[in-house]
Amino acid sequence: MVLVIGANGQIGSVLTKALKNRYGAGQVIASDIRVPQQLEGRFVILDITKRNRLEEVVDRFGITQIYHLAAILSAKGETNPIHSWDINMKGLLNVLEVARLHQLEKVFFPSSIAVFGTNTPKELTPQFTLMNPSTVYGISKLAGEQWCQYYFEKYGLDVRSVRYPGVIGHQSLPGGGTTDYAVEIFHAAVQQKTYTCFLKEDTMLPMMYMHDAVQATISIMDAPKSSISIRSSYNIAGMSFTPIQLTQAIQHHFPNFKVNFKPDFRQKIADSWTNSIDDHYARNDWAWKAEYDLKKMTEEMIHHLKINYFNNPKFLKI
Ligand code: NAD
Ligand code: SER
Repeated sequence: MVLVIGANGQIGSVLTKALKNRYGAGQVIASDIRVPQQLEGRFVILDITKRNRLEEVVDRFGITQIYHLAAILSAKGETNPIHSWDINMKGLLNVLEVARLHQLEKVFFPSSIAVFGTNTPKELTPQFTLMNPSTVYGISKLAGEQWCQYYFEKYGLDVRSVRYPGVIGHQSLPGGGTTDYAVEIFHAAVQQKTYTCFLKEDTMLPMMYMHDAVQATISIMDAPKSSISIRSSYNIAGMSFTPIQLTQAIQHHFPNFKVNFKPDFRQKIADSWTNSIDDHYARNDWAWKAEYDLKKMTEEMIHHLKINYFNNPKFLKI
């Protein structure tokens, strides 16, 4: 029985559906701090900072695997650092401790490219390298990776992790990250609005299409235990582009689409991250390979968002 924590979020909402397809709808319990707008399948309210409640949910449903997605992301995290640290760290430690005590089979913890910092090599960032994260989010993810490794080494807990790049999908909206522009820009383009980008036009960042992010998650969790050689978190790469390159890819479909560039506090965060990722450990260990590049992702995003906006007028209010 699978528990998804943070299931209402940008990735959680899509991953939960994929897990239901994989294991059967009755085998997946979605949870979040709030009830989702559209309640589908089995759902419980769970604030991950409340360990007793987590234990209650694990006992009641006979949970054997946890996908722990709840977190405060990079940009939102900077608005209240101590609160963000509490949610991100207390949440993970509750998950690890309950998983250990209840002898769960597996735990998934997503880390992020936010673990990298200004001293990290920017191009094809290696798996093992200097890491000096500048955000509370990045610090919590780096500490989280180390806690995952600690629980594996000390207690044998089978916890697995990937460092997602910025994730882009048509199914859901992002929740307060520095890479959010790469989703927002598509919504503006499809609605034939001008988009004001909060990053400079030449800011290169690692990104990934939602389909690949979900596939990476399911692949690493499905892999034989013996093939997982890294117990902190795996680098995974999708594509890398700048806001102007993304704008040009969209203009191929909407030639009149216009973007203004007005960098805000998120520029400094983006500048501290890397440009591209070396993911050969993930490729070698559990046969990871992204399917989507910028062109293919842009085509899919526009195709699906056009259908969404056409079929659901409420979508237009976003
Ligand atoms: P999101 O912000 O969209 O969703 C997070 C969810 O967690 C929300 O539904 C929120 O209600 C829930 N939540 C917040 N506090 C909670 C609490 N105390 N208890 C229970 N639930 C709580 O985030 P996302 O983009 O879906 O990211 C999911 C995970 O992937 C996060 O751990 C994030 O750090 C990681 N990640 C995301 C990206 C990305 O580009 N989206 C990139 C790298 C890593
Ligand atoms: N997309 C995330 C963010 O920008 C990266 O972890 O915070």
